Amino acid sequence: MDKITHFVQKSDCNAIAVAIFGVIGAGFVAFKALSLLKVLVDVFLRSGTNFKKYGAGRGGWAIVTGATDGIGKEFALQLASKKMNLVLVSRTESKLKAIAKELEEKYSVQTKYYAMDFTKGSDADYQGLQQVLNSCEVNVLVNNVGTNHEIPTPFEQESDHIVKNIIEVNINAAMKMTKIVVPQMIERKNGLIINVGSFAGLVPTPFLSVYSGSKAFLSSWSQAIGAELKPKGIHVQNVNTFFVVSAMSRIRRASLLIPMPKPYVRSVLSQIGLSGGASTPFTSTPFYSHAVANWLIDNVFSRAFWVQHNYNVQIDIRKRALRKREREAAAAAKNQ
Ligand SMILES: NC(=O)c1ccc[n+]([C@@H]2O[C@H](COP(=O)([O-])OP(=O)(O)OC[C@H]3O[C@@H](n4cnc5c(N)ncnc54)[C@H](OP(=O)(O)O)[C@@H]3O)[C@@H](O)[C@H]2O)c1
Repeated sequence: MDKITHFVQKSDCNAIAVAIFGVIGAGFVAFKALSLLKVLVDVFLRSGTNFKKYGAGRGGWAIVTGATDGIGKEFALQLASKKMNLVLVSRTESKLKAIAKELEEKYSVQTKYYAMDFTKGSDADYQGLQQVLNSCEVNVLVNNVGTNHEIPTPFEQESDHIVKNIIEVNINAAMKMTKIVVPQMIERKNGLIINVGSFAGLVPTPFLSVYSGSKAFLSSWSQAIGAELKPKGIHVQNVNTFFVVSAMSRIRRASLLIPMPKPYVRSVLSQIGLSGGASTPFTSTPFYSHAVANWLIDNVFSRAFWVQHNYNVQIDIRKRALRKREREAAAAAKNQ
């Protein structure tokens, strides 16, 4: 009899344990499913802050760095289409002039432009830009300008000037630009700072280590100043960007995961204040396929897995880039 009672009690315990683990498992799966659902709701159904809050159509200005090509040019065009006046910054004066004219003619907005090379980190350049901005009510800053390694390269072999340029453009420029515009934003208790980040900042990327580190800096710094500036009425949004067709990415054709700058920037500007696929504060992954990729990175496999994945991808890209360099060198030698 005792044996039977003991057996019944033991099987009851097993059933309870299975039920508890079942409930925990189902809760875990439901939690994950809900977090994915929230991502999809953000990117497909919800609308972010309207740019009227930032003075669109009422004389407000936006400043975009790296505004003459790729993602930055698209920010300038789409912000102008929302009736923001625009300050454009990049190196090439002729391109700046042409885009400023295009914006004025197409969207009847005011424009200013300033040519500077951010790699120089010149105080005189930043002071000159500050003077241009003093006469504008700047409500939106897009820290878009960025530079990358020429090809995936082991850190110890990377040239000092490329390392310096990445730090100067991707880190120092964002901080200096923010220092220039934030005092007037604080005074008005109104402003938006968009920092164009990268998946390379989300998952460390071997062989693009300095670029990857610079975007990780941007992510962490955005979250820190995001919390500082929120009570002062300023919203900071670091934007996690996977590949986009551009000169920098050297990708020419769009695909499901790689949009053209136009739909990409449309997704950014329509989701201000929303997180999309990002799980860190003051961060957004707004493009739908990037958002799902971000969710997968955060929720499937370990970070070590994704770092190794990036290692494998970059080593493959490096091999192809080196073969291309060899072909080009051979062709050049032949033509001499
Ligand atoms: N494309 C992607 O797949 C991708 C992915 C993740 C993140 N991002 C980020 O997105 C941002 C924009 O990239 P993009 O792909 O649009 O680049 P892009 O097409 O190469 O355009 C770069 C823009 O920046 C300007 N610029 C470049 N170096 C400059 C410098 N030293 N000083 C001043 N202006 C400079 C260029 O104009 P000038 O040549 O006239 O100066 C151009 O307007 C970067 O921060 C990048 O890290 C891009």
